[in-house]
Amino acid sequence: MNYRHAFHAGNFADVLKHMVLVACLDHLLLKEAPVRYTDVFAGAGAYDLAGEEAGRSPEWQAGIAQVAALAAAEPATVPPLVTRWLAAMDAAGWEPGQSYPGSPMIASRLLRGGDSLRLCELNPREAAELEARMRGRRGLKIEVRDGWGGLRGLLPPPERRGLTLVDPPFEKPGEFARLVAALDDCVRLFAGGTAIFWHADKDPDATASYRRKLAASGVRLLAADLAVAAYGAVRGLTAAGVTILNPPFTLEPALRAALPWLAETLARAPGGGWRLERLSGSW
Ligand SMILES: C[S@@+](CC[C@H](N)C(=O)[O-])C[C@H]1O[C@@H](n2cnc3c(N)ncnc32)[C@H](O)[C@@H]1O
Repeated sequence: MNYRHAFHAGNFADVLKHMVLVACLDHLLLKEAPVRYTDVFAGAGAYDLAGEEAGRSPEWQAGIAQVAALAAAEPATVPPLVTRWLAAMDAAGWEPGQSYPGSPMIASRLLRGGDSLRLCELNPREAAELEARMRGRRGLKIEVRDGWGGLRGLLPPPERRGLTLVDPPFEKPGEFARLVAALDDCVRLFAGGTAIFWHADKDPDATASYRRKLAASGVRLLAADLAVAAYGAVRGLTAAGVTILNPPFTLEPALRAALPWLAETLARAPGGGWRLERLSGSW
């Protein structure tokens, strides 16, 4: 297991994923009843942007830094979801050139004292960093274990309200098939819960086939995609997406306003763009 998220922290794919995370949590937190946040590929909690890994490939500069710079220069043009996300990132510890908060930290800062978090991270080094960063947080349990199997142990949460993030590294073949199985677990074990499934889009045919399999589930799914260039036009990942199970009704209009702005702001070469689609289910 060689994947280290520090190389990619704050890139365009994190921007999309963490924006959707904030939007879904904001909606859940409108009600007073406690919620559970479950993150089965939790990572290190935050990433040192001045460190060796992020320093070698500063992907955050073409991601969150671009968004933050344009938002500061032209605030009137910024879609509300982008503004809201940047505020949540500031609260979670985003410091240009210093630190980028990961999903557990972003969630932890939004959640209230009575809410709970369950995090899985398989890499012992990342897990140790995560433990150190989250120490003292009420309602938190971290397990150093396989996240795919973790879903079955953690769902449904006792609160019966919550958000699940499934954010695998996409370093091994078979991740799309595992994501389809993860959706099945979420629907079977926690049908009413909201869940976010992230994927890297390296091959349009494989991605289309994955989305067809998700759509065949018949449950309510929203798909949001962002591409910063045509496939292969620049080094590294050029496209990524999230699929949201039981999205809050506010998410689709918020993304419809944010995605075109993001695609334009984060474009690195021609051939990028965005897509937002209801995959299946009754709306
Ligand atoms: C994309 S990163 C997670 C980033 C994090 N969710 C965030 O948004 O800040 C994927 C993480 O999964 C971890 N990982 C890899 N295989 C795993 C597995 N089978 N179970 C749990 N964690 C795993 C990696 O060590 C890495 O930290």
